[in-house]
Amino acid sequence: MSDSTMASREIRLASRPIGEPGPENFELVEVAVPQPRDGQILVRNTWMSVDPYMRGRMDDAESYIPPFEIGKALEGSAIGEVVASNVASIPVGATVSHFLGWREHAVLDAAEATVVDTDIARPQDYLGALGTTGLTAYLAVTEIAPVRQGDVVFVSAAAGAVGSVAGQLARKFGAARVIGSAGGPEKGKKLVEDFGFDAAVDYRAGSLTEQLAAAAPEGIDVYVDNVGGDHLGAALDAMKVHGRIALVGMISGYNASEPLPGPSNIYAAATKRLTLRGVLVSDHLHRFPEYIGKAAGWLADGTLHTEETVLEGIEQAPAAFFGVLGGANTGKMLVRLAS
Ligand SMILES: NC(=O)c1ccc[n+]([C@@H]2O[C@H](COP(=O)([O-])OP(=O)(O)OC[C@H]3O[C@@H](n4cnc5c(N)ncnc54)[C@H](OP(=O)(O)O)[C@@H]3O)[C@@H](O)[C@H]2O)c1
Repeated sequence: MSDSTMASREIRLASRPIGEPGPENFELVEVAVPQPRDGQILVRNTWMSVDPYMRGRMDDAESYIPPFEIGKALEGSAIGEVVASNVASIPVGATVSHFLGWREHAVLDAAEATVVDTDIARPQDYLGALGTTGLTAYLAVTEIAPVRQGDVVFVSAAAGAVGSVAGQLARKFGAARVIGSAGGPEKGKKLVEDFGFDAAVDYRAGSLTEQLAAAAPEGIDVYVDNVGGDHLGAALDAMKVHGRIALVGMISGYNASEPLPGPSNIYAAATKRLTLRGVLVSDHLHRFPEYIGKAAGWLADGTLHTEETVLEGIEQAPAAFFGVLGGANTGKMLVRLAS
C-alpha cells in the first residue's frame, strides 16, 4: 500500500451455502481504502451487526432485497467514526450509522450515512434497541399486532434482539402476561429474571403446545412470531378468538434447502377469526426519529433492559453470524471492529 492509501479488511462472499453456512462461504480480504470524493465521508467502523435475514441474501433467489454477490464484500448495518469528510454537515469525529458493514472502513455518500447522537445512547445501541431490531419489535406490538390492556402475549426467540425488546414493550403497552420461548433453561431463566417475562417455555424441552397451554391456560391474544414452523403451529393452537399475530421472521426455516410446509393447523386462523399480518422494517424507516426519541428515554430510565453478545474483530464476523443463526446470542449479536 502507498502512503496515500489505507489498508483495511473486509469479508466477502466466497460461495453460496446449501443449508447451514460455514467458514468456506466467507473470505477475509485486505483492500486499499479509496480517498473520499466530494460529498463523501470515510468511516472507521467500530461495530457491525450480524442478522438472521443475511442468510437469505446468501442464496441466489429473488426476495425483498437483492442477494449478496460472490466475490464482493457483504453488507449490513454498522456504526463508525468519521475520520475524513468532504461533507459540511458531517464533521470528522461524528458517529454515523450506515449499511456498509462487514468491513473495517467504508467510504460513503453523505445520503447513505445518518449521524447518531451518542449523548443519549451508546453507539452500539443504534444497532440493537435503537436500530432495526428495536424498531421491528416496536412496530410488531404497536401496529402489526397491537397489544391492548390486559392482553396475554407470546413472543418467540424471546431472548434475542427483537424478542427481548418486543416482550418488554408488550408489557409497557398494557399486557397482563408475557410469555417467551427460547432454547434451553439458561435463556428461560434470563427471560424471567432479567427481561421481566412472566413465564418462559423451552422449545427444546418437549411439546410447545403443551408448555404454552400450561403457561397461558386461557389462551393468547397476541403472538409475535420470530420463528415460524413449530412455534407458529403451537401459537395457532393457543390463540384466543380474534387474536393477532405479527409475522416478523421465520428463523426455523432459514437454513432449509427445500421449501418447508406451513403449520398443519392453519385453518385455526379462520375458525378463530385471527389476524396474521407481516412486517418488513425497511418499509418503516421513516419512523426512526419518533421511535429513537422514545426508546432512548426507556434505555436511560432503565425500563428497557438490553443485552448484547459481542465477538471481537472482523475475522470473527462469520462466527458471529453462525452464532445468531444457532442461538449463541442473548440480546443483540454484535461484532466490535475497533474501540
Ligand atoms: N420483519 C422484519 O423487518 C425483521 C427485522 C428484524 C428481524 N426480523 C426477524 O426477527 C427474528 C429475530 O431476529 P433477531 O435479529 O432479533 O435475531 P435474534 O433473535 O437475536 O437471534 C436469533 C435467535 O433465533 C433463535 N433460533 C434459531 N433457530 C431457531 C429455531 N429453529 N427455533 C427456535 N428458535 C431459533 C435463537 O435463539 P434460541 O437460543 O432461543 O434458539 C437465536 O438466538 C428473525 O426471524 C429475523 O429474521 C425481521
